[in-house]
Amino acid sequence: MALILGIESSCDETSVAIVENGERVVSEKTASQVDIHAIYGGVVPEIASRHHLEKISILTKMVFDEAGVDPKDLSAVAVTRGPGLVGPLLVGISYAKSLAYSLELPLIGVNHILGHLNAVFLFDKTIELPCMVMMVSGAHTEIVLMESMASYRILGKSIDDAAGESFDKVARMMGLSYPGGPIIDRVSKQGMPLYPFPKPKPQGKYDFSFSGLKTHVRYFLRDNSDARTEDVAASFQEAVTSVLVEKTVKAAQEYSVKDIVVAGGVAANSALREKADEASKIHGIGFHFPPLKYCTDNAAMIAAAGWQDYKAGRFADLSLNAVPNLEVSD
Ligand code: KG4
Ligand code: ZN
Repeated sequence: MALILGIESSCDETSVAIVENGERVVSEKTASQVDIHAIYGGVVPEIASRHHLEKISILTKMVFDEAGVDPKDLSAVAVTRGPGLVGPLLVGISYAKSLAYSLELPLIGVNHILGHLNAVFLFDKTIELPCMVMMVSGAHTEIVLMESMASYRILGKSIDDAAGESFDKVARMMGLSYPGGPIIDRVSKQGMPLYPFPKPKPQGKYDFSFSGLKTHVRYFLRDNSDARTEDVAASFQEAVTSVLVEKTVKAAQEYSVKDIVVAGGVAANSALREKADEASKIHGIGFHFPPLKYCTDNAAMIAAAGWQDYKAGRFADLSLNAVPNLEVSD
């Protein structure tokens, strides 16, 4: 039995978890800073670093207490090494290194994007490999062919804003709070997608572009002050989610895979889930989402991803450093 301690601090959630064999969350504690950054309309890296530093050791103690696990019984310490904000990443990495060193445990550096992916595999054992991945987070939008748990090929990505980023930016333009994704999702439920916003299709077959759509919404708001916020939000959400589902289904068909895994914060979006459901009935493709609670940043997914490295004997040493621009295939 392997007990992996996971640590996540790449953005604005400090999270610590213990996961057994990559499949059972023994204990997990997360402190979100969302309310703190909301007043600035986005994450302020320096403030985030300070809050991670304040919370990380108390959360770790709470996780050990709740799990009833002695630190000496751990098998390894896994920590997010990137992508993310360098200051916040370094808080988690330094803490993980000191724990691993003092407890004489192996250290594992985890790719945060693969963490999001493992949030799906942690709870869903029915996914067949190879599969297609729709990675939709605050910073990444990619279609990835996942050949095995260790082999990833990026088929397309956003050439400008990430999907989550576009939700956050459009929400701000509409005078809604941060983070915009969950708010647009909620507001849209009271509206109708009345406005046919453009679904930009950049040259690359599986690439995305969301910045033109954002500009379109900006001009639309300027010229249509009587339009209901709920309908504008629903129309924007419709444009983003339909292009995401259309392209990922096309990729799944071209590469003859049966399953699509949706990962990252935007996987929580209810319209995306509805569209996926429709597409799965039409095309006979299985969509797999993480449980809502595990769509956004958490340490259970980092521990689950770390378990893959643990099995493969991929360990880091104390020179482990933050890599803010790490890619899914790195
Ligand atoms: O994956 P994540 O925690 O951050 C990164 O690793 O980048 O995702 C955060 C992003 C934010 O942009 C947030 O607005 C978006 O996910 N998000 C949503 C929803 N919940 C979170 N976007 C659309 N609908 C949601 N329900
Ligand atoms: Zn994330």
